[in-house]
Amino acid sequence: MYKVAVLASGSGSNLQAIIDNINNGYLNCSIEAVISDRQGCYAIERAKNNNIKTHILDRKILGEALSDDILSLVKGKADLIVLAGFLSILKGEILKEFKHRIINIHPSLIPAFCGNGMHGIKVHKSAIEYGVKLSGCTVHFVDEGCDTGPIILQSIVEVSEDDTPESLQRKVLIEEHISLSRAIKYLESGNIKVKGRRVIRDVEKD
Ligand code: GAR
Repeated sequence: MYKVAVLASGSGSNLQAIIDNINNGYLNCSIEAVISDRQGCYAIERAKNNNIKTHILDRKILGEALSDDILSLVKGKADLIVLAGFLSILKGEILKEFKHRIINIHPSLIPAFCGNGMHGIKVHKSAIEYGVKLSGCTVHFVDEGCDTGPIILQSIVEVSEDDTPESLQRKVLIEEHISLSRAIKYLESGNIKVKGRRVIRDVEKD
């Protein structure tokens, strides 16, 4: 069975959506481990509640060693690494070892409102301040940059005049929960190829 490791730093609602989609049969994979880069994040509780193995690798203690330590936990044990609200930047060997096998969900339509320091509510605040009429989420492969890897899929939401960063975040999060699992489904089915920056999907295999 296709094996996934989930990395999370926050409340883990995206992790929960993956768990739910495994339980309801939409996804045909197993979560081998949930790894957090900080103490006290609720994603770890969600994993424990579902009998999933957990690891806390504290970024404050590990610093630059974090990526290599994650690699040693997942190498040979996971086919795919899913960043589900993971706020550390992966560097070094793990990016080579898992080339096109690490995906991230970002709460905007990349290349807007992304990059270093752009995460969580800041993204939605920037989108509202800029005055965009559409926002959404992006699932992309992780490369050496920050939010720069090839895009697997995007989903849009309308930004209304009375939206606040918080209400926009709630709308986008609903799309995230669908999109992240959909991207995992594409990958577990082996029906996507990466050609340069473009991710091509073979719909016949869906
Ligand atoms: C999600 O909105 C995710 O897109 C975002 O953090 C939130 C985590 O929520 N990630 C980023 O901003 C990464 N740049 P969750 O813990 O409830 O899944």
